[in-house]
Amino acid sequence: MDKFTINGGSSLNGVVSISGAKNTALPIMVATIIAPGKYRLNNIPELRDTFTMKRLLEMVGAQVKFQNHIMDIDTTACNTPIAPYELVKTMRASFYVLGPFMSRFNYAEISLPGGCAWGPRPVNFHLQAMEALGAEVLLANGMILSKGKLKGALISFEKSSVGATGNAIMAAVTAEGTTIIKNAAREPDIEALCVFLNKMGADIQGIGSNEIKIQGKEKLHAGIEHTIIPDRIEAGTFLIAAAITKGNILLKNVEPDHMDIVLKYLQLSGMKVKIGKDTIHISPSDTSILPVDMTTDIYPGFPTDLQAQWMAFMTQANGSSIIKETIYKDRFTHISELTRLGAQINLDNNIASIKGNNPLIAAPVMSTDIRASASLIIAALAAKGKSTISRIYHIDRGYENLEGKLSALGAKIAREKE
Ligand code: UD1
Repeated sequence: MDKFTINGGSSLNGVVSISGAKNTALPIMVATIIAPGKYRLNNIPELRDTFTMKRLLEMVGAQVKFQNHIMDIDTTACNTPIAPYELVKTMRASFYVLGPFMSRFNYAEISLPGGCAWGPRPVNFHLQAMEALGAEVLLANGMILSKGKLKGALISFEKSSVGATGNAIMAAVTAEGTTIIKNAAREPDIEALCVFLNKMGADIQGIGSNEIKIQGKEKLHAGIEHTIIPDRIEAGTFLIAAAITKGNILLKNVEPDHMDIVLKYLQLSGMKVKIGKDTIHISPSDTSILPVDMTTDIYPGFPTDLQAQWMAFMTQANGSSIIKETIYKDRFTHISELTRLGAQINLDNNIASIKGNNPLIAAPVMSTDIRASASLIIAALAAKGKSTISRIYHIDRGYENLEGKLSALGAKIAREKE
């Protein structure tokens, strides 16, 4: 297992290029199952999760070539609509094959995901959506079995869910008749998925809104080339890392429109932010970091995937602040590790109170999930001395060459064997 060592105290300076979005790439990769044939996907980030999804596509029968961020997929020979436990347990997003399997095979066998470091992450909305479309859904030996020819229907989600919306859309594009999805997720990943499916011949209206209308088509087609949008969470992580180190960095290949609220909050904290067409420049304020209370919310609200990083940042504000997590109410495993670095954070249910003006001091800490690891790296960059961060395979799931990109910006970070 690898670990990072970080010598804190240097400020980040320079230019960094943002990779393609993991959470956009994963559903689009599996959407290619829906219609047999060849696809080319550009700007796919080289991450443990995209390689896991490649393996899953290959297990289903696809041929996949992946190099230089280009993924060529041929789904002609796909014939095994099964997602086994070995894969689903390492990456819950494997559950995204449900919609494509139902669309192409009228059948899906997918391991039920287990627990998660963020607390309970049920898949009931995904299954309810399939049932609404007419599937019969059963659980046997830890596997979900879903079968039946789908018919358009009204799907009304009790709570907005990115994954369940994606699955419902991918299942409905070839269902007979019209499907309306109410309370659909509006995240850019879902918008991008709809754009891709429409390129495949789907008829999806209301893209980017919380009510999506799908006119089912008998068949979609392959032969599509598509480019994945920039990763707004990776971009946000770099901006926060720059902000905590009083750095001055330019992000290239970003989509600022997807980051309105994060940019607004950075400005509220005193940072200077300049927005270009596909660039963001951040430089430090003339004074100290201001405390900013934050509540996570569904898009366009503040993303839960940046909550842990924001918390690390707020330990260095010149006053106390509050973070309320409304999406995953138990997503706080980073608090005890941040505390090892000297942070003073009090948790009351889903509300964390962070004491500002708190000098961080290097320590050995442990990653627990992708974004929690990013928050520890951010804190270690600001801490005095040499920290070690173990179990960084979590980071490798969601950040491409993070140590390379941070080193190029002047951070003293190295990957070592444990
Ligand atoms: C996706 C992202 C993840 C992000 C999350 C919220 C991917 C691969 N992952 O996860 O990084 O943190 O969105 O932005 O894109 N829920 C249910 N039942 C369900 C499904 C969800 O109760 O069947 C609840 C969840 O527990 C959570 C909320 O709905 O409280 C939102 O979760 P959801 O949007 O589904 O997250 P994911 O798609 O799993």
